Amino acid sequence: MKNDSERVALVTGASRGVGASVAGFLAEAGFNVVINYHSKSSRAEEVAHIVREKGREALLAQADLTSENEMKEMIKLVQEKFGCLDLLVLNASGGLEKGKDADYPMQLNLTAQKRAVDLSLPLMLDGGRIVFVTSHLAHFHGVKPVYPLYEPIAQSKKAGEEALRAYIPELSKRDIKLIIVSGDLIEGTITPKLMQRQNPGLIETRRKQAGVLPTAEEFARAIASSGLDKQLETGTTIFVGSTDWEI
Ligand SMILES: NC(=O)c1ccc[n+]([C@@H]2O[C@H](COP(=O)([O-])OP(=O)(O)OC[C@H]3O[C@@H](n4cnc5c(N)ncnc54)[C@H](OP(=O)(O)O)[C@@H]3O)[C@@H](O)[C@H]2O)c1
Repeated sequence: MKNDSERVALVTGASRGVGASVAGFLAEAGFNVVINYHSKSSRAEEVAHIVREKGREALLAQADLTSENEMKEMIKLVQEKFGCLDLLVLNASGGLEKGKDADYPMQLNLTAQKRAVDLSLPLMLDGGRIVFVTSHLAHFHGVKPVYPLYEPIAQSKKAGEEALRAYIPELSKRDIKLIIVSGDLIEGTITPKLMQRQNPGLIETRRKQAGVLPTAEEFARAIASSGLDKQLETGTTIFVGSTDWEI
């Protein structure tokens, strides 16, 4: 039986924002953490420092998740360093980057998420866990309204969530649970600020509707907890922040 200090979590997009906080909370909970990032190596280094300060091991793993080769290299690194994975947190996301192909949101939020699961499964221990991080705007895509700029992200993240849910029967055979954590607009983060450029006043309006917006730390704590709470059923969706909105 593995003791708690040998558990290993891989967090995608852990160099900043929500993912960086998730890495810190998981280290606090006793996980060694693989910090995946795309381009912000110095920020990823800072996160690794925080993980090590908490007495856990950190592995920096640069990989563009839309590149199959880079992802394979990352998984190879994890295999060499830790030999297994207990928890996969699929946090990295995007779609508002400049100069990308029109299908980039689908490449990152759908194709890369499935590939991350496919490549991680051979390393994952039975009884392990996968957490997919999404937004209310994406989770309720097709049911509730979405800001125009965010539409490709909402659509592709919804497709990603549905594709991962389709893995549940296969995962259940190995007692691996899938948990979805969905957030309202997160206070102080970059994506709502980018959306606000097209819709002036968007953040303040949403804050008034909701009463309060979750902070990155609150959202990250819920994500990290969903990786730990043994009572959660597979397929559970955890909502952070109000799910009522008007646009
Ligand atoms: N912000 C919100 O208001 C909000 C609300 C609800 C849900 N969420 C969800 O929360 C999660 C985190 O959001 P966030 O606001 O913290 O994001 P963020 O600040 O934009 O950070 C994105 C992270 O993903 C990484 N990343 C981006 N493209 C990548 C790629 N192709 N390959 C590998 N890594 C890549 C970035 O790496 P680099 O730093 O190296 O570029 C960064 O670490 C996302 O799933 C998002 O949908 C966010």
